[in-house]
Amino acid sequence: MLRDRYGRTIEYLRLSVTDRCDLRCTYCMPTGFKGFEEPEDWLTFDEIERLLRAFARLGTRRIRLTGGEPLLRRHVTDLAGRIAAIPGVDDLSLSTNATTLRRHAEALRKAGVARINVSLDTLDRTCMESITGRDSHARILDGIMAGKEAGFDPIKINMVAMRGVNDGEIERMAEFCIGHGFVLRLIEVMPMGETGQNAAYMDLQPVRERLQQRFDLVPQALELGGGPARYLATRDGRSSIGFITPMSQHFCATCNRVRLAVDGTLYLCLGQEEKFEFRPLLRAGASDAELEAAIRHAIELKPHQHDFTARPEKIVRFMSQTGG
Ligand code: GTP
Ligand code: 5AD
Ligand code: SF4
Repeated sequence: MLRDRYGRTIEYLRLSVTDRCDLRCTYCMPTGFKGFEEPEDWLTFDEIERLLRAFARLGTRRIRLTGGEPLLRRHVTDLAGRIAAIPGVDDLSLSTNATTLRRHAEALRKAGVARINVSLDTLDRTCMESITGRDSHARILDGIMAGKEAGFDPIKINMVAMRGVNDGEIERMAEFCIGHGFVLRLIEVMPMGETGQNAAYMDLQPVRERLQQRFDLVPQALELGGGPARYLATRDGRSSIGFITPMSQHFCATCNRVRLAVDGTLYLCLGQEEKFEFRPLLRAGASDAELEAAIRHAIELKPHQHDFTARPEKIVRFMSQTGG
């Protein structure tokens, strides 16, 4: 088991398989961003599997594939199959923008991905184009429906709530998700680099109260997944709405995760700079025992909590590099 200096058990690894994306969401990448990693610096599937096996031997049981947009990595379904087969991994999930999900959904399900989270901030085509920088509405909605048809359960819809951008659409999104059996999750925007969207931050506590009344929701004791969302459910127990509130009510005390970027850098916290580089070790022929020792050492570096509010400009890494 991996335990950090603050007694937290680390059992969830978020794996970014590419830092590229076909969209340009305003809160995720700065305009014209070009600082992508070079493909020769990306871990290969063999390197990823070797490292993940070492993590799994130390108690990592949840893996989430992220990006950038993970479905842009060539043969990502093969990688998913290799990860699903690792002993000890019992929860393999994916966070995607769904633009190419129609093409991948069936194969991902067969490979062993059980649940997916999809970014969808609005149902309005024009608003979506202004957030994602592309006319992506039809492809994204079609991708989500392909996910439903392929049998992913649950499908969570991630909506980053932004004042003056999509805050007028929260109720409509809730109705859409309840109607389709999706779990809506409202997310407070985090200031990751100078994305230009940081001014749109809105506190979700009042929204939570509003939705609780409007849809007659009750707090949900059951955890839905391994993440930081807190859920409310409809009285029939069939639908849930989650709130991810890193800014107004953070969840660092129960953090269970670390993030592996595509170049083999392990980031210990989304909102801090502590990191450990695995690529040099992997390419220098480290033994399994050395890899495990390095993982234990890296986990020791995990900070107590994120620090977005103190110095918002501090994090110069963009969300697209670590996959949120
Ligand atoms: P499950 O609960 O396992 O389904 O996944 P998740 O909610 O962790 O995954 P997802 O990729 O859908 O992330 C949803 C949002 O939560 C994103 O905006 C993430 O940036 C945010 N988030 C996830 N983990 C952390 C974390 O450790 N710290 C902070 N501050 N935000 C996080
Ligand atoms: N703040 C909050 N959430 C973000 N995401 C991307 N950038 C940010 C940000 N700055 C979310 C996306 C995606 C998830 C993985 O991370 O909506 O669904
Ligand atoms: Fe791409 Fe997701 Fe970032 Fe949007 S939030 S640009 S879909 S990685």
